[in-house]
Amino acid sequence: MENFKKIGRILKMKKIFITGCCGYIGSHTCVELLDAGYEIVGLDNFSNSKPSVLDGIKKISGKTIKFYEGDMLDKDLLETIFNENEISMVMDFAAFKSVGDSVSKPIEYYINNVSSVLTLLSVMKEHNIKSLIFSSSATVYGTPEFVPITEESKTGGTTNPYGTSKLFVEQILKDLYKSDNDWKICIFRYFNPIGAHQSGLIGEEPNGKPANLMPYISMVATKELEYLSVFGDDYDTKDGTGVRDYIHVVDLARAHIKGAEKLNKEKSGLFIYNLGTGEGYSVLEMIHAFENANHVKVPYKIEARRPGDIAECFADSSKAEKELNWKATLTLEDMCKDAYNFTKNRKNN
Ligand code: NAD
Ligand code: UFG
Repeated sequence: MENFKKIGRILKMKKIFITGCCGYIGSHTCVELLDAGYEIVGLDNFSNSKPSVLDGIKKISGKTIKFYEGDMLDKDLLETIFNENEISMVMDFAAFKSVGDSVSKPIEYYINNVSSVLTLLSVMKEHNIKSLIFSSSATVYGTPEFVPITEESKTGGTTNPYGTSKLFVEQILKDLYKSDNDWKICIFRYFNPIGAHQSGLIGEEPNGKPANLMPYISMVATKELEYLSVFGDDYDTKDGTGVRDYIHVVDLARAHIKGAEKLNKEKSGLFIYNLGTGEGYSVLEMIHAFENANHVKVPYKIEARRPGDIAECFADSSKAEKELNWKATLTLEDMCKDAYNFTKNRKNN
């Protein structure tokens, strides 16, 4: 009997609440967590995803998540979720993420990306659940002073409301931890997640024309788009085009398991980690890597710089390697193949 109680306690420990569970990174994280034996309670309002993602998660993992459709701004709904489930930790992925949109819709972005987190934190506090992994972004570094970027690099100088919303939430989390050291908070600063699950069943599904490089390249390769506009070839980089740290979304998802293990182990603390590969690739290198991996042509034209872009951004992720025992293992070829596989699947279905 005692043993059953013990197992019961362990299982309860493992229930994780995932906001934005049907989005790009959230869905891949659900798959990895389910594979690792965690139970998931998920929330999404489908503002940037589709219910069919839940089928994809189920097909890949053979398991289901307990799903609530709704908005993270809805405090009553959050209360219900925390009352109905034994939640031990929250991973917060729910946010708007388009840099360009955020410039024209700052109010919507601050409400959805900042107010919603305040709602979540207040409900977590009421329920005495003080364990959180938050999705932040390399964008909080603004124009980096040096590369590779370490967690100690200066933050701020963000050039758009999306980036500023992430910076604000990081500050809120720091203030919260200062006020109450019982909290266990992990802030992940993602670099550039790309690729898709190897099954091709889940991936990045932007609404309309993609704003990011990899989905755009993939749709040029499937001929859904005519050519890629390369935004500037006069940066001070290896070939003049922008350099970024692209990381496979599955590697990123796996980091969340390490984050959960870390928080389960620690009594309290606020931990910040860069999640990238440490490699910077230029836009032209990405085009060629994609062509070589998939044996396709990606026509492109050099055009003017995109306002707000920086020249170069890549991570020093050695802190995550040392403290979380996490390291990205999937290659650029994997990223290109998996991205294309997903885009082809999506086009044909
Ligand atoms: P995504 O848009 O694919 O996923 C976000 C999910 O949250 C979507 O399914 C959307 O419907 C849902 N959502 C949004 N607002 C909600 C709300 N108020 N209530 C309930 N559900 C809501 O984005 P993603 O790429 O998976 O990003 C996940 C997180 O990682 C976000 O916080 C994003 O800002 C951050 N991030 C993403 C990137 C990137 O390049 N993808 C880089 C750095 C940080
Ligand atoms: N690029 C092009 N053509 C395109 C799209 C992008 O040349 O059609 C270039 C950009 O100029 C940049 C690089 O490809 O040099 C990467 O651009 P993305 O739009 O894919 O990614 P960003 O680095 O601009 O931003 C992304 C997310 C942000 C996140 C950031 C974290 O969009 O939300 O990564 O580093 F904050």
